[in-house]
This record gives sequence, C-alpha cells and structure tokens, in this order.
Amino acid sequence: MDFRNEVTGFAPGRVNLIGEHTDYNGGHVFPCAIDMGIKCSAAVRTDRKLRLYSENFPHDGEREYDLDNLIMQGCWSDYPAAVVKALAAFGYSLETGADMLFCGDLPDGAGLSSSAAIEVLTGVMLRELYGLPLTDQLIAIIGQFAENRFIGVNCGIMDQFASIMGREDCAVLLNTGTLSFKRVPLNGAAVVIVNSGVKHSLASSEYNRRRQECEAAARQLHVTDLCSLTVDEFEQRKHLITEPVCLKRAKHAVYENDRVLAAARAMEQGDTDTFGRLMNESHASLRDDYEVSCAELDVLVQAAQSVSGVYGARMTGGGFGGCTVNLMRHDAVDRFAEAVTRAYFDSFGREPEIYKAKASDGAGIR
Ligand code: GLA
Repeated sequence: MDFRNEVTGFAPGRVNLIGEHTDYNGGHVFPCAIDMGIKCSAAVRTDRKLRLYSENFPHDGEREYDLDNLIMQGCWSDYPAAVVKALAAFGYSLETGADMLFCGDLPDGAGLSSSAAIEVLTGVMLRELYGLPLTDQLIAIIGQFAENRFIGVNCGIMDQFASIMGREDCAVLLNTGTLSFKRVPLNGAAVVIVNSGVKHSLASSEYNRRRQECEAAARQLHVTDLCSLTVDEFEQRKHLITEPVCLKRAKHAVYENDRVLAAARAMEQGDTDTFGRLMNESHASLRDDYEVSCAELDVLVQAAQSVSGVYGARMTGGGFGGCTVNLMRHDAVDRFAEAVTRAYFDSFGREPEIYKAKASDGAGIR
C-alpha cells in the first residue's frame, strides 16, 4: 500500500430522533449524525485495482477488486466497491484505482448506519482524490443507489443523507420527497442511545415486506407516496384500503410524518417536552401499527419513559432489534442508565450498551 499522497476522512453514523419508515414513503425524517463513525486513509494507484483494507475485520481485512470487472464478493468491502460501481453508473468512472484503509467504532449491526457511513465516506474520499464534481447531496444519492442496486438492500435516503449533511448540535429535518432540508439545533438536550444487542434475522425480509404493504396502500389511495397525504386526507380516504394490515402500515406512515413536522416545530420553539411526547407516540405506533419493535426494545423504552428528566424514548432505525434513542436533561443521564440497565437485566439477564451521543458534523476530509 502506498499512502504517500494520502488523504484522510471521516463519516459518522446516525441516530434518527423521529420519522421512522417514512423515508421510502416520501415523508420527513429527523436524524442527527453522531460522534461515532468510520475513518479512512486513501491514495490513488497507478493501475486499475481497488484495494480495500479494514482494521475491523482482522480475518478478512484485505480485499481487491478490478475496476474493469467489478464483481461483488459478499463481504464488507462490497460497500465501498458498490459505490465505485454506482459512481460509474452516474457517469463518474475512475481512471485509476485506489488504496483505501477503513477503521471505525460503530457497533456492528446495531442500526447506527455503518453501511451508510462507509458508502458516503467512499464518495467523499474519491471526490477528493480525483476532483470529482459531486455535491454532498449527490454523494448521499449515489450511496443509496449503490446499496439498493449492488448490495440489494432496498433502503431509503435517510441514513446516507444524515451521515453527510449532519451538523454539530443539530438534527436534520429532511423532506425525503424533495430532498429539501433544514438543520435544527437540539437546545442542549442529551441524546442517549441504548443498544439492545439484538439483531433479528427477520429485519431485511420484514423491511421489504413493510415497503410492499405501504406501496399497496398507496396504490389503493391513488397516491405515489403515502406521506403526500395529510392526516385529514388519509382519514377521509382510508376506507379505500382493503387489507387491514396495509391500513395499519399506512396509518403509521401518515401519522408519523405529521409527528415529525410537529416535533421539529416543537424543537425550534424550545419545547422539548412536546418533542419527547411525540417520540413516545412514535414508538407506540411502530410497536402496534407498524409492528417492527420487539420485546427487548419495548422493555428499554418503557423503562426510559418512566425516568424523571427523560423527555421521550423510542426505538430507532429499521427495528427488530438494534437501538433505542432517548432524549433527556443532562442531569438525568446517570439515573436513566441505571434504570434501563436494571430493567433490561431483570427481563433478559444481560446488560445493554449505553452511548451518550453528540450530534456531530457530517462526513468530510479531515
Ligand atoms: C433503515 C433504512 C432507512 C429507513 C429506516 C427506517 O435504517 O436504511 O432508509 O427506512 O430503516 O426509518
């Protein structure tokens, strides 16, 4: 590896404060980038090889791809390789290869978007190395395209967008239908992430099934995106949805979108109590109508919601395990940690991991 002309960069993971399963329904989301993520050192090569290294996979830490025949290999390095393929599909073919060394501190499989982080980081590094004329938004779009097309995960744009557009002490209110966004300061509230350590194998098949159920409901409502409907419009038309399960999914999407807008408004007005109440409602809807929670997440959320000084708590990300996100006063963090650890241990005989996250800047060269 020749890193004489190397550049270095970082891309954060993300946690979504509210707006779950709305990003593939043309709705709003409200994530922030966090202070855990992935670092990369990279340098241009003179041949047409892409050599990818990871310090996080000691047994499988070195992989090579050929730019003239980029074939996925079924391992971690497919994420950056898929971005190189996606760049070519968008008209940005690389003339020569690169060496890229990654290492990160995002817990694996916890739903904090390590995949999105490595995708946007690859985009940022290659933009720098080759002077590619890419905006940050386009890097997010290319990352999502890479994941949809070459990894085969049908995700929305939220994770990639948050990883590159995040700002210190802010969350990003993103309209996923138009990609217009604004950054909203978090008023000094503490964002605490609790990792259940659970990863259900159902996650990706159920994710795709939820998408299909939403698409079926949208067809019956004669809209392209469920979240283009207001709550009132939905209530007037919901009788058109014939399948009860699709009706529940659509109800979650439409009301969740409404909650995101109300929550962002509340945050702008300094009303963290209202923001927290909407987070609690979001969890109930994800548990009862969208049915993507699980016993472990429910125990963590219920314990959190009864701690004084906690504004709100909910599962975050796709669901079926992963993490909860909790918003609270800083002086509540210690008793919160104690209460959720005890409740989790009493129910499942093990302790969750707790991270006090800091809303952080998005990906860049640094
Ligand atoms: C996963 C996907 C996102 C989004 C969330 C649910 O994190 O990658 O695009 O759909 O689930 O809100």
